[in-house]
Amino acid sequence: MITASAPAKAILMGEHSVVYHRPAIAIPLPQVRATAEVKAGTRGDGLWLYAPDIEHQARLDAGHSDDPLAVTIFNALDWLGQPRSQDLVVTVRSAIPLARGMGSGAAIATALVRALAGYFGRPAPPAEVSALVYQTEVLFHGTPSGIDNTVVAYEQPILFVRGAPPVPLGVGGVFYFVIADTGIASPTKIAVGDVRRAWQAAPATYEALFDHLGGLVEAAWEAIAAGDAARLGPLMTQAQAGLVELGVSSPELDHLTQAARTAGALGAKLSGGGRGGIALALVEPDQVVAVAQALLAAGARQTLTAALLPDGGRRTEDGQVDPRIDTNASAPRADS
Ligand code: MEV
Repeated sequence: MITASAPAKAILMGEHSVVYHRPAIAIPLPQVRATAEVKAGTRGDGLWLYAPDIEHQARLDAGHSDDPLAVTIFNALDWLGQPRSQDLVVTVRSAIPLARGMGSGAAIATALVRALAGYFGRPAPPAEVSALVYQTEVLFHGTPSGIDNTVVAYEQPILFVRGAPPVPLGVGGVFYFVIADTGIASPTKIAVGDVRRAWQAAPATYEALFDHLGGLVEAAWEAIAAGDAARLGPLMTQAQAGLVELGVSSPELDHLTQAARTAGALGAKLSGGGRGGIALALVEPDQVVAVAQALLAAGARQTLTAALLPDGGRRTEDGQVDPRIDTNASAPRADS
């Protein structure tokens, strides 16, 4: 039996404008993961998929095209040069909340590809895994930029421009974030589709807004490289204002980002598709607990703490890129 996993992700800056070829910054959240397990099935039984979290089980036929997991499995088998008819049992589990802008779909698909590659004894280089998962994203998420599958497959903080290889993020200091879950599921596809229609109706206005958001990402990239949290915070808050203008915030996200700032966060914004999902606040290390508590008091379902560390490029003993995000165990959590 082979088990593999993949992390959740958060967009630090540049969601939505990244779809329109502006840069964006994304980080993996390795402490929240999806896992996939592959084992031999009973001879003649075919390919079975189990998703116990959602009480789902199905025998997959090669023609399956309406289930993202089935599509991912068959694309992965094609990539591995294996026949689509297999006696296999595939089980997926995920601790990543669904439709919260945390990349749950990309993480489950990545874990599946990694587990199938492991089962058939093939390496799973991030670029190839990312390209495979992108195929699923395109089928089921409209017009994705590719940032989710890339940051999840590379499992490294990245600067991303659509269509180009990801650039590892240079990190000049430690940055602490509190992530607040609104508890509101909001499929990215819907927000992305609404932005597209707005852009089609008023292209000049939206191109200018995308330029503005892209410029903030470039400034954030410099602030991160310089280890300058005091500079990064206001850039995040300015990005939130731009995202409000884009129409992808919500009363809950406005409230949470405001609550974080009032509690002393250096900056705060929504993260991912918006409308629901998560907010991301940049905090000084000694404010982590206070800001997390303020977010819970303001209605967040749960909070998660992450740190972006300056030791990029390290590799673990098994050759994996060492994630530069840590959990801060002292943060309060609710109904996780
Ligand atoms: C989703 O994590 C980020 C969006 O920019 C969509 C995309 O890039 O595909 C909202």
